[in-house]
Amino acid sequence: MMYSKVIGTGSYLPEKVLTNHDLENMVDTSDSWIRSRTGIEQRHIAADNEMASDLALNACRKAMKAADVSADEINLIIVATTTPDMTFPSTACILQYKLGIKDCPAFDVQAVCSGFIYALATADMFIRAGRCRTALVVGTEIYSRILDWTDRSTCVLFGDGAGAMLITQSDQPGILSNHLHADGSYYNTLSLSGNICSGKIKGNPYVSMEGNTVFKFAVKVMEEIVHETVAENNLQISDIDWLIPHQANIRIIQSTAKKLGIPMEKVVTTIDKHGNTSAASIPLALDLALRDGRIRPGQHVLLEGVGGGFTWGAVLIRW
Ligand code: ACO
Repeated sequence: MMYSKVIGTGSYLPEKVLTNHDLENMVDTSDSWIRSRTGIEQRHIAADNEMASDLALNACRKAMKAADVSADEINLIIVATTTPDMTFPSTACILQYKLGIKDCPAFDVQAVCSGFIYALATADMFIRAGRCRTALVVGTEIYSRILDWTDRSTCVLFGDGAGAMLITQSDQPGILSNHLHADGSYYNTLSLSGNICSGKIKGNPYVSMEGNTVFKFAVKVMEEIVHETVAENNLQISDIDWLIPHQANIRIIQSTAKKLGIPMEKVVTTIDKHGNTSAASIPLALDLALRDGRIRPGQHVLLEGVGGGFTWGAVLIRW
């Protein structure tokens, strides 16, 4: 039996920090409203000359260093992003070039805030199928470019950043299971409908969402997917040592943990410092918890995401 094993992670946050107090000078909002409704205190904002592939490149270099893997050992690149450098080619191809990798499959996946889970599940299945030895999986986002900075209901929620993970073939898990879902009937609930059409942008070029619907749906599926994952692995909820959920809103995370009976001490959160970095949020949180020594060998780490589509999913890892 072939499994995937995590051999390194890395992350990157742009230098510029935008605090809630900074936002008070931009829209009709307050630090206390943002903190109490979302848990966010600040977020990072990419520089004008930074693209999603640049954020990814910084995160990947750290993951490669942690794993002691050179560029020529990587034989698959999957990038999860909602904010690609270009409409085409894929950000994965641009990243491959910037990393100096000559030839390997490279492609993007688009599952919005569940993107990293979709990308990791896909890479895991490539490895299990014996079609790849070492895969680089990345979530990278520059949401600051797709936000309407006059719309207080969305612009306070998101931030920029990237996280990367290297996985390789192993005869021991590793990744125990992956679980993916989507329900396209919600496609209009959280979207950026604008696209390029005959040389013009057709539709809304900014993120729009029905916040309350997203909130309720997220809490529901974030609970369900954990039950599905532990059941498939004949585990109990109490066997999860670390829950690393997508960081959309501290209240979604707290409600999910409460319904599952998981104490917040076992939940990794970064929403206060990063905001919602969409596909980058899970690998950013994972990298933080690994580097500060919270995650230790033998522990069960459950990654779970939910995002536009709606999409949702989970990956269970025995560290
Ligand atoms: N500052 C001050 N007031 C605000 C702001 C703001 N930034 N944004 C909205 N308000 C106002 C509204 O206008 C409204 O005013 P009104 O009562 O006079 O009409 C009031 O606050 C309450 O608005 P609600 O939308 O009901 O506030 P709610 O408590 O639902 O919180 C929020 C809104 C934070 C967006 C919440 O619905 C939420 O977290 N939803 C989940 C959405 C999410 O996390 N999206 C991220 C992307 S999706 C994902 O990652 C899965």
